[in-house]
Amino acid sequence: MSAGQPLRVAVLVSGRGSNLQALIDARDAGTLPIELVLVASDKVAAQGLRRAEAAGIATLALAPRSYPTRAAFDRELFARIAAHAPDLIVLAGFMRILDGAVLAPWQGRIINIHPSLLPKYPGLHTHERALAAGDAEHGSSVHFVTAELDGGPLIAQARIAIESGDTPDALAQRLLPHEHRLLVACIDLIARRRLALREGRVMLDGQALPHPLQLAAGATRLA
Ligand code: GRF
Repeated sequence: MSAGQPLRVAVLVSGRGSNLQALIDARDAGTLPIELVLVASDKVAAQGLRRAEAAGIATLALAPRSYPTRAAFDRELFARIAAHAPDLIVLAGFMRILDGAVLAPWQGRIINIHPSLLPKYPGLHTHERALAAGDAEHGSSVHFVTAELDGGPLIAQARIAIESGDTPDALAQRLLPHEHRLLVACIDLIARRRLALREGRVMLDGQALPHPLQLAAGATRLA
């Protein structure tokens, strides 16, 4: 990627695509210097694909059952994504575990948003698990993707208080707008070439991050 050019971003979705919509809206508002080059999905019916079509973004839907193995699907998906020459791949509600060998060449160029304060609660049912544990707070994390599920280097987090009477749905609902701002803010730092992964460490303005950045309540920028 070259400085000054909009960051070429491909987004992978499996469902609703509200995080994708946040990126589209920020791009359209002129506040996020990205070009959305592709939205891809493992679900033909994903609402995220319809959002992309409505925004005039190229789409790709591949059905995993058409491939003999999980790795064969992942290889085809990433070959098709690579044809669009993205600088960054964003997993935004993409509900598949990706093959390590397929991910390897994309190290530092692929991020994920996960609805928990990682390293707490990798995997599914994060809101249920935070409530069951009696946690006082919950949140969302954006991290660089490695072969370890929800385990790559953390970029930033957004936190919310858990309230008495919260249900998993209520918590998910309340967290969502924070997720949207968090994802946009992280991609903004990458697009402005301020944040990158170097030798396994997250670097901001040339300095290794000692802790994940924290998005302040109501803020739209991390740094
Ligand atoms: C978000 O909660 C995200 O953190 C998780 O899946 C959900 C996707 O929502 N990975 P949407 O499809 O972006 O609306």
